[in-house]
Amino acid sequence: MSVRKRGESEKDKVKLNKQNLNRALQIFGYVLPYKWPFILGMFFLSAGSLLFLAIMSLPGEILNIISGNPTYPLTLNQVFLFLLVLLGVQGVFSYLRVWLFTIVSERSMANLRKDLYQQLITLGIPFLEKRRVGEVTSRITNDVTQVQSVVSITLAEFLRQIIIFLGAIVIIIFKMKSLALTMLLTFPVVVLLAMFFGRHIRKLVKKRQDQLADSNVVVEETMQNIQTVKAYTYEWVEISRYQTNLEKVVRIALKAAHMRGLFAAFIIFVMFGALFFVMWRAAIMVQNGAMLQGDLVNFIVYTGLVGASIASIGSFYTEIVAAVGATDRILDILDTPAEVQPKENITSNTKRFEGNISYDQVHFSYPSRKDVPVIQGLSFDIKSGQKIALVGGSGAGKSTIIQLLLQFYNIDAGEIRIDDRSIYEYDLLDYRRNLAIVPQEVLLFGGTIRENILYGRPDASSADIIDAAQKANAWEFIQSFPEGLNTIVGERGVKLSGGQRQRIAIARAILKDPAILLLDEATSSLDAESEKLVQDALNTLMVGRTSIIIAHRLATIRDVDCIFVIEGGQIVEQGTHEALSAIPDGAYNTLAKLQFDLIE
Ligand SMILES: Nc1ncnc2c1ncn2[C@@H]1O[C@H](COP(=O)(O)OP(=O)(O)O)[C@@H](O)[C@H]1O
Ligand SMILES: [Mg+2]
Repeated sequence: MSVRKRGESEKDKVKLNKQNLNRALQIFGYVLPYKWPFILGMFFLSAGSLLFLAIMSLPGEILNIISGNPTYPLTLNQVFLFLLVLLGVQGVFSYLRVWLFTIVSERSMANLRKDLYQQLITLGIPFLEKRRVGEVTSRITNDVTQVQSVVSITLAEFLRQIIIFLGAIVIIIFKMKSLALTMLLTFPVVVLLAMFFGRHIRKLVKKRQDQLADSNVVVEETMQNIQTVKAYTYEWVEISRYQTNLEKVVRIALKAAHMRGLFAAFIIFVMFGALFFVMWRAAIMVQNGAMLQGDLVNFIVYTGLVGASIASIGSFYTEIVAAVGATDRILDILDTPAEVQPKENITSNTKRFEGNISYDQVHFSYPSRKDVPVIQGLSFDIKSGQKIALVGGSGAGKSTIIQLLLQFYNIDAGEIRIDDRSIYEYDLLDYRRNLAIVPQEVLLFGGTIRENILYGRPDASSADIIDAAQKANAWEFIQSFPEGLNTIVGERGVKLSGGQRQRIAIARAILKDPAILLLDEATSSLDAESEKLVQDALNTLMVGRTSIIIAHRLATIRDVDCIFVIEGGQIVEQGTHEALSAIPDGAYNTLAKLQFDLIE
């Protein structure tokens, strides 16, 4: 896994414009299947907001009744009864609104997460290699969470506040005409200024989030490699790396706080200043008898509502912009063409290859390092059922040759054929079903041993599994566990040795029954005893298949049909062990001599 710092340019500013807003609206495609609960929720939301506006007119009305100037012919008791009923209805509406919006947001976002995961798992390896694991997983967690909070809460609240804002203004215009102009002339100014502030704060908050995400990557990486960190006593370096990151977070946060503080001061001074100014004008009118006391109360209440809704609309706007940014990053992944379309059923392999492999003038360099040619004009032929070995120094390109065969990367020039057809002409899933690889380091999934072996063929019977485990020399140790095949492996279960994991991977490959078997230094990290067990299992596995063996120890490949010595992505020598050994100063002999010297 390559580790690379993501480009600064990628995480830069989000601006609301037509283009990314349109893109963000694509996410509403996920809400569409739940449009009825959504519309119903919107109805309860709007009705609830209007009720709220109505309820807020009652305190002023009560004062008018007390002072003997009722607007409606109602007694105090009747008004209180009416208030109780309104509050009850309001409660029911709120309950339904929360319930409906949660249904919409949870279900739609679960679908989005599933699609995102499906996309991630079907994307080509080059795409994933360019990004850190933590960065990719945060798309599915943080970014979706951000979108979800907008879909479930922010959007609803935003709308509620807009209804209250408009409603309160309409009431003021119709019921308190003389004061409306004073009020309306002060607030638009405040709104504009608030938006200007909000934009700055938003940028800084976003920068802080990104920086925090970066520092989390440090934590993730070191926790994954904790043994290396400890073995190299690198704790202090990692701590200071983390600390440096945190300091950047704090610095940006402080800068943002500066702006937020100014914003708060601004709200207090200008917003409340405007509020009291308008109230002062109203009080004078009451004093002159131009206005009822109760209407003054109403005016204050509604002006307060207008102010409060402006303030919250500003902050929701910030959240919505952040969510638009998150949507953008989500769509970046969703819009990248996937490598394959996953199929629901992994059935047994019906289109079995014969297993003739031919590389013809293949050239390749990794997409991340285009300028470094790794495979340079490689040609060879392997007949069905043959066993061949690739040997050569580390970095020669051996693993790359295998990865090209697995179609993890596309070649730049030349052709790779299997059974006389270009490998790219096959359906990728059918194609890969014909291949199995046993790598040097086997990582198992955190389920049971049974589940891990079933990875080879999900519809295999228990008898098949046991048979495969026996052939893989794994049955003995599996049986020694009290839970047998149902033993949990990985973090929450038993820790298996390298050789044991290798044999489970072999059992998996036996179940898969591939036409072509790829072994990438499958035994080179094992001790002598497990090497023998694994080698025996591999010998069983290789029978009747075309096999490409990358061997570290030359002693293990003496009896293969042909040995290719690879150097700099090319074949420099080829032939049987006997033939190559006979070349006095040949590349094979040089390798053998090196190993011999090492053993001595
Ligand atoms: N994912 C990758 N991205 C970029 N370069 C790579 C990648 N994997 C391997 N390389 C480079 O390709 C060359 C061949 O690597 P590899 O095939 O793994 O060699 P071998 O298996 O013979 O030791 C090396 O120089 C290595 O640094
Ligand atoms: Mg290798």
